[in-house]
Amino acid sequence: MTIRIVRQASTTVASQWLVVGVFEKNGELAPELRGTPAEALCGRLIAQKELNGSLGELTALHGLAGFEAPSVLLVGLGTRNKFDALAAYTAGVALSKRLAGKPRDSVAVSLASILDGGHSELTSALIEGVIVGQRSAGLRKSEPNRHPFGRLDVVLPAETTDEAAAAVETLVARAEIVGQAVNLARDLVNTPPSEKPPGVLAAWVGKHAADAGIDVQIWDEAKIREERFGGLLAVAAGSDEPPAFVVLEYRKGGDAPTLALVGKGVTFDSGGLSLKPSASMEDMKSDMTGAAVVAATMQAIARLGLPVNVVGYLAITENMTGGRAMKLGDVLTMRNGKTVEVLNTDAEGRLILADALSYAAESRPARILDLATLTGACMVGLGPKIAGLFSNDEVFTHELLEACGRTGERAWEMPLDDDFKDQLKSNVADLKNVGGKWGGAITAAKFLEEFTASIPWIHLDIAGPSWNDGDSSTRDVGGTGCFVRTLTTHLESIASTRVS
Ligand code: BES
Ligand code: MN
Ligand code: ZN
Repeated sequence: MTIRIVRQASTTVASQWLVVGVFEKNGELAPELRGTPAEALCGRLIAQKELNGSLGELTALHGLAGFEAPSVLLVGLGTRNKFDALAAYTAGVALSKRLAGKPRDSVAVSLASILDGGHSELTSALIEGVIVGQRSAGLRKSEPNRHPFGRLDVVLPAETTDEAAAAVETLVARAEIVGQAVNLARDLVNTPPSEKPPGVLAAWVGKHAADAGIDVQIWDEAKIREERFGGLLAVAAGSDEPPAFVVLEYRKGGDAPTLALVGKGVTFDSGGLSLKPSASMEDMKSDMTGAAVVAATMQAIARLGLPVNVVGYLAITENMTGGRAMKLGDVLTMRNGKTVEVLNTDAEGRLILADALSYAAESRPARILDLATLTGACMVGLGPKIAGLFSNDEVFTHELLEACGRTGERAWEMPLDDDFKDQLKSNVADLKNVGGKWGGAITAAKFLEEFTASIPWIHLDIAGPSWNDGDSSTRDVGGTGCFVRTLTTHLESIASTRVS
């Protein structure tokens, strides 16, 4: 898809489709429509309650008098005072899901309504949504259900200055890169589990990273053993597929502090001998979302050329029930020397992350952030769309939540009080890998904390937001690529505050 920035009145845009935003309430029409023959028609549709501008509402008008474009799509933006980055992203996904349902040579999206205040994060979010909406989870459908646009025209008012147009052009180019990274994460998650065994997934992310100019190390099982990753080896023991560990190194930040990104990469989580019920296993190809998001974020920042230092650590394995599977009562010695009694093989994520976190901490990065589809308990607490955020550092937490505010991705800070650690006391080892009945997301985070060597750290439990259970006009079913946008935004602000 090629993207162009054009400055002209919406009425004169000749693309196959012209998309115009409409706000809810008071029949507030997009400025592009005011004074055009469309105004009267829209007024009637609003009066007849055929149109109201609610978020994601789509109204196709064909042969609209006064418009060069043969078809005009009105996309609801919701109420103006609630129009934030989440709304902009949602509107972008909705319009593009709708129009990408068939091949279209040219789609023009008019930004006049949302650019009123020159809000750069709204423009970014909307264009990211437009990129994401052109890709679906239907990777193995014989007939594709999504067709990327031949060309996307971003329409600005004719009177836009050269300077303002250039700024939008930069934003749009950036948004395309970020949207593509989200789609990379989604594609990896949406790939069937038997097509992405650890070695294959590691090679794919290594290839994507190397193409973006990132240094890549891929460890095989022998190297993982040599490095004493007792948790990763134990989880992998139940599978015929050997594990992999990937280190992605991007250092374009000179002497800037390093951020370590750690991702859980379980390519299929059967639960192991503590077997999951069948229904709970259906979506467990998504248990590698953390690793996919780390790889995709690093692709984005490398393609954007951000002056930052980031190292990604991906712990990749299947969790299966083979004859050599780890057993309840087994005691593992982890990378940092701590011993762990396994009392539930389905609490495998923390075992592999423990080694990855310990290893990451050994290089003494300034900060560590891990992403993991770690606990169902986190979804019980926060629902399916909000990530649990656990941290030992207030400043880091504040900065990340601020980035969330700019993308509309949602995370909520959870407690990490020390008394929760009592639940992890083992009779035979330093720790056991499960706590009691209550606060399961917190005890999981407390377990991870044991391997962070007191470095400022955030754990994002993305069990909920990593996956969307049902398709709708504003969201695709399947992998979401959550937090690629937020992590990229966070790293951009790190890069910009450091310019000295
Ligand atoms: N991968 C799962 C967590 C999960 C559940 C992710 C639902 C996405 C949707 C994780 O490995 C797991 O099985 N966690 C257990 C932990 C328990 C055994 C302490 C859980 O949440 O049930
Ligand atoms: Mn599990
Ligand atoms: Zn898991």
